[in-house]
Amino acid sequence: MDFKKRTNLFLGALLLTGGLFAQNVYVSTPKTSLVLSASEGGKLEYLYYGSKLSDVDMQNLETVESKHTAYPEYGMNCPTETALAVKHADGNMTLQLQVLKVTASEENNAVTTVVSLKDKVYPFFVNVCYRAWQDADVIEAWTEISHQEKKPVVLNQFASAYLPIRRGEVWLSHLYGSWGNEGRVSQEPLASGMKVIKNKDGVRNSHTSHAEVMFSLDGRPQENAGNVIGAALCYSGNYKLRIDTHDDGYHHFFAGINEENSAYTLKKDELFRTPELALTYSSEGLSGGSRNFHRWARLHKLAHGTTPRKILLNSWEGVYFDINQEGMDQMMADIASMGGELFVMDDGWFGDKYPRKNDSSSLGDWTVDKSKLPKGIDGLLADAKKHGIKFGIWIEPEMANTVSELYEQHPEWVIKAPERDLVLGRGGTQVVLDLANPAVQDYIFKVVDDLMTAYPAIDYIKWDANMSIMNHGSQYLTKDNQSHLYIEYHRGFEKVCQRIRSKYPDLTIQACASGGGRANYGVLPYFDEFWVSDNTDALQRVYMQWGTSYFFPAIAMASHISAAPNHQTFRTIPLKYRIDVAMSGRLGMEIQPKNMTEGEKALCKNAIAEYKTIRPVVQMGDIYRLISPYDNKGVASLMYVAPQKDKAVFYWWKTEHFCNQHLPRVKMAGLCPDKYYKVHELNRIDNVPLNFEGKVFSGAYLMTNGLEIPYSHRVDYHKQNDYSSRMLYLEEMK
Ligand code: DGJ
Repeated sequence: MDFKKRTNLFLGALLLTGGLFAQNVYVSTPKTSLVLSASEGGKLEYLYYGSKLSDVDMQNLETVESKHTAYPEYGMNCPTETALAVKHADGNMTLQLQVLKVTASEENNAVTTVVSLKDKVYPFFVNVCYRAWQDADVIEAWTEISHQEKKPVVLNQFASAYLPIRRGEVWLSHLYGSWGNEGRVSQEPLASGMKVIKNKDGVRNSHTSHAEVMFSLDGRPQENAGNVIGAALCYSGNYKLRIDTHDDGYHHFFAGINEENSAYTLKKDELFRTPELALTYSSEGLSGGSRNFHRWARLHKLAHGTTPRKILLNSWEGVYFDINQEGMDQMMADIASMGGELFVMDDGWFGDKYPRKNDSSSLGDWTVDKSKLPKGIDGLLADAKKHGIKFGIWIEPEMANTVSELYEQHPEWVIKAPERDLVLGRGGTQVVLDLANPAVQDYIFKVVDDLMTAYPAIDYIKWDANMSIMNHGSQYLTKDNQSHLYIEYHRGFEKVCQRIRSKYPDLTIQACASGGGRANYGVLPYFDEFWVSDNTDALQRVYMQWGTSYFFPAIAMASHISAAPNHQTFRTIPLKYRIDVAMSGRLGMEIQPKNMTEGEKALCKNAIAEYKTIRPVVQMGDIYRLISPYDNKGVASLMYVAPQKDKAVFYWWKTEHFCNQHLPRVKMAGLCPDKYYKVHELNRIDNVPLNFEGKVFSGAYLMTNGLEIPYSHRVDYHKQNDYSSRMLYLEEMK
């Protein structure tokens, strides 16, 4: 449907109930509707969020749905949980918001509806905003808070959005974890009381819990069936998600910036904009919710979301800090010979007065260590050109070490509370720069700008962040505004990112934060991908990547083949399995190729070639998770299906190995039942092909029965081991 027609329909829906001051406001995406009741001078009330309503259902909605205040404010109904709580200039703690007007506008394939509210007495205003994407089933909700009171108003609570969810058998799925164990799935039924998911790191926000959740509305979560509401807070800083399961028959869901130690003093006429909460609804289970998020991410949220990603080698696990010109050249030659497209030089390349030999110095001094790299970055770029690949570089620009020229020149730029000692991080000397300070913002922008100006051929930046805000104090903010630190840090971070993106729109940038500390939609508009975890153990990655895929598409999930034994878990996993796991995300390598055998290199070369064939399906396709590793069935399986359903890639990873074990036969999903697909095994290591190699099956057969996958590989005796994995490529036969 064309855009004009959609808007006419939208406005038509408003007119149906009386024009822009109509009683009901309809916010719609292709398959979902959100309905509010907004009569002028009355309260803004929430009526419905779910699958798309027909015109008839819309008209009769109020007879069956209960109403809830859409953005609950504190003060006139104190016992309830609230989204917004303030202290007015005169000390009054209450709010009473009424609808002023409703407006709607269109831009970039989205309809934005703004419901303007004003306090009944005070000149205090809230715009409740909804952006409904017309090519993805996501509605973003946020608020804009302002006032014209004589003196500042203190914001004590300022959620982005609120959603009531009818009680029933509602289950919550969310991610938790820590360094090396990010993206773990937790699923639990929502019971009476409060469930709070929050982060207080200050810098990164996904090493702990994640700022995204899914609600399965029909009992125990299922991957490919059942109604699901998904919610993702698009914020890079401290967040808080609250679910108050109340005796009134509802789960009251609030999401926004974590207000702890962050009371915000709002000046007259200043606008406080809360981050967006992205909402999705799917009647196709958790995987359906994920597909909605992934599509929206690729089209609208992720930097370069529809551009295929390069296959890279990152130097970290290969050489750690042991960077030198010859070593980098050798790694570039190796990745190029295996078919890779990009080499990324990680930590250890910089520092003049204080060369970076380990993690105890030099952050902030982004000049080449000439003792390691006598030909400088120009020499590395020349090597990359010689090998026909692109070159990328690691930086950690938000940080310094106390052992650095930067700290010597600007001790006032670091986060530090007055009268307190510095709290030091990694290497015993790391400190966080105070991004609330515009001079620090300029400096961080300049780190990237200087690199890109001097070396415009740099194709990729790995942007790391390895420390939390440990002691609360900005040397820049005034005494009265110290509680703005967390918020101002992330405003500063976003400003820098925006400047970088407007000057360097084509640069690929990875968000890394001690691994997966920055997997969130506040960061992703400026970053092309994130490092899922510092843990590259393929077996543990099956679990972490499974969870991460709930909210983030494969194109954004950096997933690398690393050495055995693994450097984090010391587990020895065969290369075939390591490859098959890495190939379910954005494929890369994190290994010293010099230590690989010719046979291993050949396997990787073949895998890279095969990945190039399937890259569009993996990176742009629709995910269908089939068997969860968390269900302990001995196997995990998922697939990606091309939007035209003419191609698919199926992954099968054994997670346990026992003699005479019985694994479930995996039924596929997402195919077209009437199409016929030829099956081809990728990354084959067996001496004999699978029974169904090259054979054709209908989508219906594959989805009803699935294929019987042998439990182990048919390889020579000395090559046998306890791991087994398969990747199948399905192509439609016309
Ligand atoms: C932490 C990152 O997660 C690693 O990948 C690596 O870049 C190191 N920092 C370098 O210090």
